[in-house]
Amino acid sequence: MSKISFKPGNMLYPLPAVLVSAMDEEGNVNAFTVAWAGTVCTNPPMVSISVRPSRYSYDLIKKRGEFVINLTTQDLVYATDYCGVRSGRDEDKLAKLGLTQQPSKEIATPGIAQSPVNIECRVKDILELGSHHMFLAEVVNVQVDTAYMDEKKSFHLDRAKPIVYSHGGYFSLGKKLGTFGYSIAKKQETKRQREKRRRKPAGKPASRRK
Ligand SMILES: Cc1cc2nc3c(=O)[nH]c(=O)nc-3n(C[C@H](O)[C@H](O)[C@H](O)COP(=O)(O)O)c2cc1C
Repeated sequence: MSKISFKPGNMLYPLPAVLVSAMDEEGNVNAFTVAWAGTVCTNPPMVSISVRPSRYSYDLIKKRGEFVINLTTQDLVYATDYCGVRSGRDEDKLAKLGLTQQPSKEIATPGIAQSPVNIECRVKDILELGSHHMFLAEVVNVQVDTAYMDEKKSFHLDRAKPIVYSHGGYFSLGKKLGTFGYSIAKKQETKRQREKRRRKPAGKPASRRK
């Protein structure tokens, strides 16, 4: 295996590219794209987004102390890119893209209705790291689209066709390769294997390995 070193940089891919909505003092809603986003704590549920202070949305989030993370899908890939290359300083991106507001339950800032998951966040801390300032926020409510719930009320995010961002490109997800804990789960014997086992004549027990 031959490898070369890249200069230190961000190579943690793939990542979600989310649409973050923020609201100004007059109640105008803006959305911008964030890939530097992450889950940072389970209990209390906390997330982070890292934002350059030069972004129009930065002051909106700082002043209101809240934002919504809207997960993105194949249907939203154009909007995801557009919101990441155009500024709310110059235009109403939601109107331009035909995106509609989804009222939040716990905060004033609305989410985006077309997104399957809206994560309502209240800012707890701002870490001024360098080029980006990290908003550490508590998740105060999550809204999910019932279109992706089955009759047992299980939510199937994969049915919403989520996208990821990897090293400059947007990608859809491939096939499911396993589920949480599958590597240590007891394998279920198939009907065929069971019949084969039963057909086997009882032989001498295998000698113990030394
Ligand atoms: C895929 C993608 C990911 C991005 N991730 C971030 C990010 O994590 N943090 C950030 O500050 N800007 C990020 N940007 C850039 C902002 O989304 C972009 O500057 C946007 O125009 C800011 O919008 P605003 O001026 O309306 O706030 C990203 C852009 C794209 C296309």
